[in-house]
Amino acid sequence: MRQITIVGTGYVGLVSGGGISEFGHEVTCTDMDQDKIKRLNSGEIPIYEPGLESLVKRNVAKGRLHFSSDVPQAIHNSNIIFIAVGTPQGSNREADLGAVEAVAKTIGKNLNSYKIVCTKSTVPIGTGKRIEDIIYSVNPEADFDYVSNPEFLREGSAVKDFMHPDRVVIGTRTTKSLNAMREVYRPLYINETPIISTSVETAEMIKYAANAYLALKISYINEIANLCEAVGADVHEVARAMGLDGRISPKFLHPGPGFGGSCFPKDTHALAAIGRNSDSPLPTIEAAIKTNESQKRRMVTKLKRLMKNDIKGKSVAVLGLAFKPQTDDVREAASRVIIPKLVESGATVCAYDPIAMDNFKNHHPDIQYRDSWQDAVNGADACIILTEWNEFRGIDLNKLKSLMNKPAILDTKNILSIEKLESLGFTFDNVGRKKSE
Ligand code: UDX
Ligand code: UDX
Repeated sequence: MRQITIVGTGYVGLVSGGGISEFGHEVTCTDMDQDKIKRLNSGEIPIYEPGLESLVKRNVAKGRLHFSSDVPQAIHNSNIIFIAVGTPQGSNREADLGAVEAVAKTIGKNLNSYKIVCTKSTVPIGTGKRIEDIIYSVNPEADFDYVSNPEFLREGSAVKDFMHPDRVVIGTRTTKSLNAMREVYRPLYINETPIISTSVETAEMIKYAANAYLALKISYINEIANLCEAVGADVHEVARAMGLDGRISPKFLHPGPGFGGSCFPKDTHALAAIGRNSDSPLPTIEAAIKTNESQKRRMVTKLKRLMKNDIKGKSVAVLGLAFKPQTDDVREAASRVIIPKLVESGATVCAYDPIAMDNFKNHHPDIQYRDSWQDAVNGADACIILTEWNEFRGIDLNKLKSLMNKPAILDTKNILSIEKLESLGFTFDNVGRKKSE
């Protein structure tokens, strides 16, 4: 059993803390946000993530998972410290390492014996070296090994992804630290999960290369979807047939209003910046970013077209605010770009999301929020679906039509039946499929 401290108890830190304690280690999750720690200590889970509450409660009850805002004390008591604070996009589009650097200083000042300092946050290549330098600058006697252990979990399926990863990447400089990290993940590798051991720099690169590739795949299918619209092809059939080629795989070939979330948008920008700064530009990634930004704007043009450009003073129902289903996260969601443009065009926006409304209200208190999809579409002149929540997949289209002022719908997630929309006389559009005449 290892004594582990996690600094940063967000989506990644809390899920990792829960998962690592489930592996049998003793974990203390820490955060500078004292209110968050208070809530966790009183049994409240501050984010919505399927399976997280039972994972956390089970391990707290077993006495293996603790929460504390006393970061120095937690560092003193541990032999491995995971850094899992956010690395948001900075003003120059590069990753903002302010939080990571602050944590590195705190760790340096509190190293009282040999420890492993391990970064889980996504950080630009070379950050490991920078963290080592910071620790030595505040504590020249520091006795530690640095490890890069990027996390690949997805929000919405984070617990499942953490407990059953495709692989675990561990970038180390010493055999001692590699062996210690293997011990942390022992329950996984005895289950034959591949453990990829690399240098620190290669591990940092793997995370960006993987995320940017997935983002590229989405932008590619979105471009193909847009072309399908122009030439009368169906992107679902195209993607399905493409995906059956084992070299391509069916995953991440779903077209939509553009990717969002806390990772793809910022990581593609960060990787592109690293490429430019290293005299090794990545034009494919730059293109994927541009395509994604225009895909979000394209949804606004489509909706306006559907409403025959008569949007001023009209009521638009927005179903789905989260950047994907099964999460309350609205960071970089398509809704964040599309809704302000609808408001700017003079529409009254009535929004509904099963989980993410409170988070969205922090950014856009000015629009109207409803408690159900039925209330949101009531009297609407058009409806736009932005997140593929299951409850929207099962929408009763007869009911929808009877509630709306005009039956016009833009299904940016392609979850509704074209046949049913046609037979009920909807004016409709989607991404890359047949639209109404
Ligand atoms: C994670 C990763 O860390 C990021 O690199 C990756 O690219 C996306 O996922 P995430 O868990 O989503 O970030 O971040 P967030 O939910 O914002 O949580 C970060 C936590 O760290 C917050 O609770 C914040 O209060 C805490 N924090 C931040 C600290 O404890 N100390 C700090 O100095 C800064
Ligand atoms: C992503 C990576 O998948 C994960 O490995 C990494 O650790 C963090 O970043 P996440 O952002 O949580 O995870 O969710 P993901 O399921 O990858 O979706 C990201 C965005 O892409 C969402 O907006 C989603 O709607 C969009 N997407 C995904 C598509 O538009 N089409 C697809 O086929 C897949």
